[in-house]
Amino acid sequence: MPRMEIDAPGAAGPYSNETRHIPSMPRIYTRGLRPLEPNMPNLDTRTLPRHVAVIMDGNGRWARKKMMNRVRGHEEGAESVRDIVRTSREIGIPYLTLYAFSEENWKRPAMEVQALMTLLKRFLKSELQEMLDNGIRLQTIGRTHKLPDHVRNVLADTMEKTSSNHDMVLTLALSYGGRQEIVDGVTRLAQRVREGEIAPSGISEEILSQCLYTAGMPDPDLLIRTSGEFRISNFLLWQIAYSEIYVTPTLWPDFRKEEYLSAIADYQKRERRFGATSEQLSGGGDLP
Ligand code: FPP
Repeated sequence: MPRMEIDAPGAAGPYSNETRHIPSMPRIYTRGLRPLEPNMPNLDTRTLPRHVAVIMDGNGRWARKKMMNRVRGHEEGAESVRDIVRTSREIGIPYLTLYAFSEENWKRPAMEVQALMTLLKRFLKSELQEMLDNGIRLQTIGRTHKLPDHVRNVLADTMEKTSSNHDMVLTLALSYGGRQEIVDGVTRLAQRVREGEIAPSGISEEILSQCLYTAGMPDPDLLIRTSGEFRISNFLLWQIAYSEIYVTPTLWPDFRKEEYLSAIADYQKRERRFGATSEQLSGGGDLP
């Protein structure tokens, strides 16, 4: 996977005057604390997460509560996807990764899997222009060779057309499993060792990271899970080692801009210590 060239939040890219923008969205140029819109939480644009990852859960329960079939829940979930992608771009999140279809989701009834594939295709086609207009690059992680050809073709076309965009990377995890990713990564690593490119004693966290699907991407700073389950569900197992986790009871189809911004505001209140002490981080103690 090529290395990404993404500007840090607050740098020229996402805030540039030349950047095309989503019509009707307020543009944010000012660095520092400012309200986004009336009734929206204040966000500090200097400390936005670089990478937000989302486990989108609760489409089925949303539909059941409304006496609808599960596919209606997924359709409404696709609307939340649109809203969260737009909002991410609007506030300047450089990487957004969405768990759209897990390796385990293949076990679902064939009719539901087919509906999810159709929905994904429809989403890619309907959002292409917006991605182009807003500098969003699409990429995927997962065993995407397992997806049906008609979906892979649309994915390939969208990735190709958005490949020169640099303002935000939207990653869809499709046929994705964290353990499978580690197996695939270790297989790749073993090949490199066998070919003499790397010595066994030279294997490091950095080298293994480079063999994962997410090579070149920063680890998620914030992991959001909707629908109230306190589970990781085989998502980005390696990458979330130090992610801040936000779990909300809100079902995915109801998770929209306002709560997303609250999740980011909540993240901004946390102290990320990465194993160090508060005193060390505030300059009162020695860091190694
Ligand atoms: C979990 O809800 C969600 C999924 C399995 C798939 C996520 C899919 C979407 C949000 C729709 C479209 C996606 C894109 C990228 C356009 P669930 O069915 O497990 O809900 P439940 O736990 O309440 O049954």
